Amino acid sequence: MFPGARPRRLRSTPAIRGLVRQVRLDPGDLVLPMFVKEGIAEPVPVTSMPGVVQHTMDSLRKAAHEGVQAGVGGLLLFGVPAVKDSVGSQADAVDGIVNRALAALRADFGDDTVLMADLCLCEYTDHGHCGVIDGGDVANDETLNRYAEVALAQANAGAHVVAPSGMMDGQVGAIRSALDGGGFAGLPIIAYSAKYASCFYGPFREAAEGAPQFGDRGGYQQDPAGSVQEALREVALDVAEGADAVMVKPALAYLDVIAAVRAAVDLPVAAYQVSGEYAMVEAAAANGWLDRERAVLETLTAIRRAGADFVFTYWAAEAARWLAARR
Ligand code: PBG
Repeated sequence: MFPGARPRRLRSTPAIRGLVRQVRLDPGDLVLPMFVKEGIAEPVPVTSMPGVVQHTMDSLRKAAHEGVQAGVGGLLLFGVPAVKDSVGSQADAVDGIVNRALAALRADFGDDTVLMADLCLCEYTDHGHCGVIDGGDVANDETLNRYAEVALAQANAGAHVVAPSGMMDGQVGAIRSALDGGGFAGLPIIAYSAKYASCFYGPFREAAEGAPQFGDRGGYQQDPAGSVQEALREVALDVAEGADAVMVKPALAYLDVIAAVRAAVDLPVAAYQVSGEYAMVEAAAANGWLDRERAVLETLTAIRRAGADFVFTYWAAEAARWLAARR
């Protein structure tokens, strides 16, 4: 052994390990994504995401209240409308489910939490793509016009932040100018900047009922085998266009990307622990193969250690309660 080399000295008791620990999870770093569906009388369980439901307006308000009570840092809404069409009209309809939900939660909570809704079209289009279709393909610039309208609708409904997730080129700039022109110059954009065409969104497609009806999202989301530099280019464009925080998604399979983004920008960095990451742990825990609580907290710790300042996770409320109980 080298003289002096004894890393175990700092591991001898839980108190010493606690003292030198770098990563601490805080409920306020966790954002809770929630689904609200139009036209249902009872919450509908999402089979592939045990414990997650499509909410009614009432159950949404109750669960949101529980999350805020537990100390989560924010709430992210996904709307599932009763009727979908080719341009996703319900995304920006004032009486659309997601905008009604934003308004209800804003009335309930005021500024006591951070309210946001996914800014995309795939939950609202009948073809399931994240933009409008022209000649069999998602048309980038026509889609930007729709995102600008949706951003304004969400801002008017009471969102504190908009979070564009569609991966169209120029989306942050288009949304920024729409918000500025509409009297919302002070409303921040958390940009899903590096978002991969991932199989880990599988369970989400059931929850949000937004599976593409033809093709896939490979023409707009990033290739999982692409370079880290490609992610940094996406991030740099979003920063230049006015993003206030940037996001990497999914999280666990892209920790290297999170770390690179953290090193490259001076803005807050978010990561999204997606539906498939949730489903993997839930399935293994249900079989008794993983300790559920430890697995959840270890994954969240890893995502924070990689450099994410805050994490979108379906476990946000439950993890917040575990963390509070440990204090
Ligand atoms: C919408 C969107 C998706 C997710 C968040 N926003 C689906 C997709 O891009 O296919 C996935 C979230 C999850 O899997 O938990 N574009």
